[in-house]
Amino acid sequence: MTTPPTEPVGRTPITSAADIDLNDWNFWGLPDEDRERAFRLLRDLDTPAFFPEPEFTFAGTPQGPGYHALVRHADILEASRNPEVFCSGDGGATNIPDLPAEFAEYFGSMINMDDPRHARLRRIVSRAFTPRMIKQFESDVDAAASRIVDELLETGPGCDFVTEVAAKLPLKIICDMMGIPAKDYQFVFDRSNIVLGATDPEYVSDREDIAHALLTAGMELQQLVQDLAALRMDTPTDDLTSSLVNANIDGEQLTAQELGSFFILLVVAGNETTRNAISHGLRLLTLNPDQRRLWLEDFEGRAPRAIEEIVRLAAPVNYMRRKVTRDHEMNGNLYREGEKVLLYYWAANRDERVFDDPLRFDILRDPNPHVGFGGPGPHFCLGAHLARREITAMFRELLRRVPQIEAGEPERLLSSFINGIKHMTCEF
Ligand code: HEM
Repeated sequence: MTTPPTEPVGRTPITSAADIDLNDWNFWGLPDEDRERAFRLLRDLDTPAFFPEPEFTFAGTPQGPGYHALVRHADILEASRNPEVFCSGDGGATNIPDLPAEFAEYFGSMINMDDPRHARLRRIVSRAFTPRMIKQFESDVDAAASRIVDELLETGPGCDFVTEVAAKLPLKIICDMMGIPAKDYQFVFDRSNIVLGATDPEYVSDREDIAHALLTAGMELQQLVQDLAALRMDTPTDDLTSSLVNANIDGEQLTAQELGSFFILLVVAGNETTRNAISHGLRLLTLNPDQRRLWLEDFEGRAPRAIEEIVRLAAPVNYMRRKVTRDHEMNGNLYREGEKVLLYYWAANRDERVFDDPLRFDILRDPNPHVGFGGPGPHFCLGAHLARREITAMFRELLRRVPQIEAGEPERLLSSFINGIKHMTCEF
């Protein structure tokens, strides 16, 4: 993690790949067009660009070796399929510098692990997502989306679409799944903003405080789930926390630390990503009225492809990291043991080698082999089905009841990891 700028972000003229510095916070504040041009230049390189390790603000962690920026679809597919060479453990997948030991307690969840530990955890948690539970949440998603649009109509135009609409649905669903009461929604929302938005001054104002803020948010979320887990051990209900603390599936059970870090992963992964997909989705429909008309003509029939197209262009998770476990050649390039690679999903989803006219928002796009939910491999998004369901429910309600709703200019999150929109007004 580098220290983000305290000055307003300016435009850096980028005319060749040599002008691009993915460690420069100014880069991540550039408008979409500039980011698109830059990643196209990177994709056109024969060998992926290599960047030194960013300046690191956590004390006591040695400077790492730097990273290769994988920006082509083919590289991301192959690296994802080959976790023995491109691993998620050994320092983590959600960060460029290795996670310091004290972070593992809160953020050392399965996304930052390799098999067999990863497989064991994934087996336990995915069995807890029983068909009955998923079914139950599917009807809850529709009802919650409908209530959010009721409230939007009461609030009226000019409000912040991100906080009033996009953020509410995933927050409510993930909290309900876990059994977190409504009074704690805001608490969870604020902490998950810190975990994924710590580099943005709106969420952590003191630049020196990022590590401390992350640890505090992690600790507070863990405390919340541990209190809840204690209640559910005595009096189980039909929520996910109850099944995780009580169900001893094939003799396997989560430890208290595993439960805490899984919970943090779930609230963070389940909230921010879907929220940003919904916000980007409204922005895309606003910029492309022909696509909105097309979708309105046959909402249900066109929804599955439209949702994939939103996730392709939104790519809410910009990258995941892998570490190279042994010298390895991939697509003509050599990766050395101990080096890191960053899988830039956002860039791969715009790869002109795979997608026709990749910058065009085309709700009928087929095939659409985007990697917004990750590449094919053991870490493919556990919540993809739920996310698709939530995004569909939100747009169904919006396009049925406020079909002309339009997005204003987005205020973007200053982050290299999440392609986030913090605020965005809406008019209707
Ligand atoms: C549009 C919404 C979403 C996007 C774009 C997204 C994206 C991703 C990506 C790119 C990964 C791959 C990580 C890797 O390969 O290292 C991932 C993993 C994961 N996602 Fe999602 N996600 C979304 C929604 C959700 C939701 C709603 C949940 C929870 C209910 C969720 C839970 C997870 C979990 C637990 C993992 C880790 C899986 C593992 O390591 O085995 N995600 N997600």
